Amino acid sequence: MALWGGRFVNESHKLFKQFNTSLFFDHVLAEEDIVASIAWSKALMKSNIITIEEQKKIESALLSLLTEIKDNTEKILTSDCEDIHSWVELNLIKKIGQLGKKLHTGRSRNDQITTDLKLWCRKNIHIILKNIVKLQKHFILSAESNNNVIMPGYTHLQRAQPITYAYWCLAYVEMLRRDESRLKDVLKRLNISPLGSGALSGTAWKINREELASSMGFDSSSNNALDSVSDRDYVIELLSSASICMMHLSRFSEDLIFFNSGEANFIELSDLVTSGSSLMPQKKNPDALELIRGKCGRVYGSLASILAVLKSLPLSYNKDMQEDKEGLFDSIKTWNNSLLVAILILKNIKIKSKHCREAAEKGYSNATEIADYLVKKGLTFREAHDISGQLVLRAISEKKSLNELNLSTFKIYSNLIEDDIYKHITLESCLEKRSSKGGVAPFQVYQEIIQAKKRLNIT
Ligand code: ARG
Repeated sequence: MALWGGRFVNESHKLFKQFNTSLFFDHVLAEEDIVASIAWSKALMKSNIITIEEQKKIESALLSLLTEIKDNTEKILTSDCEDIHSWVELNLIKKIGQLGKKLHTGRSRNDQITTDLKLWCRKNIHIILKNIVKLQKHFILSAESNNNVIMPGYTHLQRAQPITYAYWCLAYVEMLRRDESRLKDVLKRLNISPLGSGALSGTAWKINREELASSMGFDSSSNNALDSVSDRDYVIELLSSASICMMHLSRFSEDLIFFNSGEANFIELSDLVTSGSSLMPQKKNPDALELIRGKCGRVYGSLASILAVLKSLPLSYNKDMQEDKEGLFDSIKTWNNSLLVAILILKNIKIKSKHCREAAEKGYSNATEIADYLVKKGLTFREAHDISGQLVLRAISEKKSLNELNLSTFKIYSNLIEDDIYKHITLESCLEKRSSKGGVAPFQVYQEIIQAKKRLNIT
C-alpha cells in the first residue's frame, strides 16, 4: 500500500513498482525509523498536536513493532510496501487504527529518510571505530611479540634499508589512527538533526527542533531545511573515510601477500585464513588478504557512484537520492568485515625471523651506512655515495655481502676506511643510528609501543 493514493486514478505499473521500491534494502533502517518516529510523536505531543495519551499509545505500538522485527528485519520483506517509512506507518495503523494516521503530521519522508540514515550511519560509525581501535591493538601486540625481527624495508620493491617487523606494524597503527580521527570528524558534521525540515521548507507546525534533535542524541538541529533534505555530504564523507581506510587495508594485504610469497618467505599465514588449490596440492593461497585487496575496489565504486548521483542534482530532494543506500550499506559491511578479517590474520601470523634477517643482510641495505661513515671521515655525501655504490658493485661481482669484503678491498676505494667499518655496517648499527623521532631505532620503536599501549589501554 502506498502513502499517496489520493491524487491518483490508476494503479502503478508492476514494473515501475518494482523499480521504485526501496524496501528490499531500506528495511535495515527499521529500528532508526521507529526511534525517529517515537521522537517525532513526542514533539507532536509537546506542541499539543496530539494528546499525552495518544503519544503513549503511538509509542508503545511502535515499541512493540520494534520487538517484533528486532534482529530480523528480513521479516519485513514479505510486505509489498514501497519503503520502510510506509511499512512502519502501515503497521502502526494496523495496531492502533486511525490514531496511527496522525503520526505523519508535519513530517515528510524527505526529512524522515535522512534522519533515519544519519542515525544508521552514527550507529555503524561507532562499530567501525571500535574495530579500527581493535586492529591497532593487534598491530601493537604483534609488534611487541616480534620486537627483535629485522627485515628489509623496500622502496620501488627493492631492498632499501633494514627495518624491523615491529616498525612495519607501527606504520599501520599510524594509518589507522588517521582513519580513526577522520571518522570522528565525519561523526561531528553528521550529528545534526534534519527532522522537522518537512519536505523542503520546514514544518508548518510549532515544533521545538532543538529539543527534538537532542532527544535523538544529535548535537543540534539543521539551519536550513532546503539544504538538510538535500544533504548527503555525510554519505560521501563516510564512504570517503571507508575508501581511505580500505586503501590502507589493501596496502597491508599487499605487503603481507608479498611477505608470504615463496620469493620473500618472511611470514607464514595461518590455515585459518588461507585456502588450497584444487589442482596444485603444495599451494596455500592468501585468499583473505586478496579479498580485502579486492573489496577495496567495490568501496571505491560506491564512493564514485554517490558522487556521480549527486552531481548537478537540483535542490532539494530527488528520487535519485534513493541510490545512496545500497552502496553505503554494502560498503560499511565490507569495511567492517575487512577489519575483522585483518585482525584474524594478524592474530595468527607466524614471522620467520631467520629468513627476514637473511633477506635484510643480502640486499646491500647497509650501503647508506658506508656513505654516512665516509661523511663522518670528511667526504661530502655525494663523494661518499659514489664510493659506496662502487663497493656494492664490487661485492656483487664477488657474490658477497658488504660486510664480507676484506679491509684491503675497502681501501682500494677509499683510504679513509678503517677496521671500524665492520661495526658500522651491521644491521643492528644501521637500525640504532636512526634514533631521531620517527626513526627505526629499536629504542624508539619500544617507546612508540609503550605510548600506543597507554593510548589504547592495553595492559
Ligand atoms: N525511499 C526514499 C529514499 O530512499 C525515501 C524518501 C522518499 N521521498 C519521496 N518524496 N518520495 O530516498
